[in-house]
Amino acid sequence: MVTLGIIGAGRIGKVHTESISNYVKNARVKTIADPFMNDDLKSWAKAMGVENAVTDYKEILADDEIDAVLICSSTDTHSVISVEAIEAGKHVFCEKPIDHDITKIKQVIKALEGKNLKYQVGFNRRFDHNFKAVKQAIDAGAVGEQHIVKITSRDPEPPSPEYVAVSGGMFLDMTIHDFDMVRFLTDSDATEIYVQSAVLVDPAIGKAGDVDTAVITMKMENGAIAVIDNSRKAVYGYDQRAEVFGSKGMVATSNDTASTAVISNESGITGEKPLYFFLERYMQSFATEIKEFVDAIENDTEVPVGVMDGLKPVLMGMAAKKSVEEGRVVKLSEIEF
Ligand SMILES: NC(=O)c1ccc[n+]([C@@H]2O[C@H](COP(=O)([O-])OP(=O)(O)OC[C@H]3O[C@@H](n4cnc5c(N)ncnc54)[C@H](O)[C@@H]3O)[C@@H](O)[C@H]2O)c1
Repeated sequence: MVTLGIIGAGRIGKVHTESISNYVKNARVKTIADPFMNDDLKSWAKAMGVENAVTDYKEILADDEIDAVLICSSTDTHSVISVEAIEAGKHVFCEKPIDHDITKIKQVIKALEGKNLKYQVGFNRRFDHNFKAVKQAIDAGAVGEQHIVKITSRDPEPPSPEYVAVSGGMFLDMTIHDFDMVRFLTDSDATEIYVQSAVLVDPAIGKAGDVDTAVITMKMENGAIAVIDNSRKAVYGYDQRAEVFGSKGMVATSNDTASTAVISNESGITGEKPLYFFLERYMQSFATEIKEFVDAIENDTEVPVGVMDGLKPVLMGMAAKKSVEEGRVVKLSEIEF
């Protein structure tokens, strides 16, 4: 049995607590910490079987009974808490991104050196049943040599301008999952990135200094050309698809829907919209990623998404930002690490 502490009781902290309580049989959450801990959160934590609900995460780090922490707090706290947790001898699961600042990610990598501690990053889409099936088909040779990889990733609604202002921008907040998916499906890193982007959804996003629509093209080390298309607003719901085309064929996924019922009548043929957003679409993947993290601790095996997997999409996000700023192809080798 692995004993966990959860840092941050917002949206994703709650998702992980609930899925551990319901699905991860070899782990228990002993303590959850959030500076805004209140009575509602405390009674929710109690209902989830969590022993302690506290305001200061340092109580978790000081507790010798706790083997590992899940860092689910706001992004700007991830790297600092990661280093403190590693120094306190805890295994760490850190939500994406580790940080927006490469120097701070380096500090986490350094803190891990020489320690027999697991560090997993929350790129949950790798554990999604559809994307996992695409990867399995690729690994089984269905596609042959990869030529073209296409990721479609569109949100159902844009974030607020306040969120945009602290998010690090679309490439580091949203596309970061798609950069990880391209790496996962190709087993390869990007060498060059070029971005066309625009503000087509909400002018307030542009005023906050970000974009809301983009097409990103990449050359990958394995020779494939990859394309990501992003929008902050798809009126029909969360659009999450992938296609990998190669010398022997193609593998592609469609969206998940609440049912597969299709109604055909004289006015046309209609079906369900995609599941609304990430909480509906990716619940299973959130549970599976934590299950694999806990198993890696129990069995002393490698985590499926390590610290370098956390770093690489941030470098890709920085290259994408530079491409927008300078209107040109950016080589990944230009991004200093
Ligand atoms: N993998 C995914 O698909 C996914 C989805 C959503 C969010 N996230 C990531 O999870 C993180 C949190 O996002 P969210 O949507 O849950 O945000 P949120 O604002 O709902 O929750 C963040 C929580 O962290 C708490 N917090 C802030 N500083 C803290 C500290 N020092 N100690 C303890 N708690 C602290 C806040 O009080 C808040 O309750 C972000 O980094 C985000 O990028 C990942």
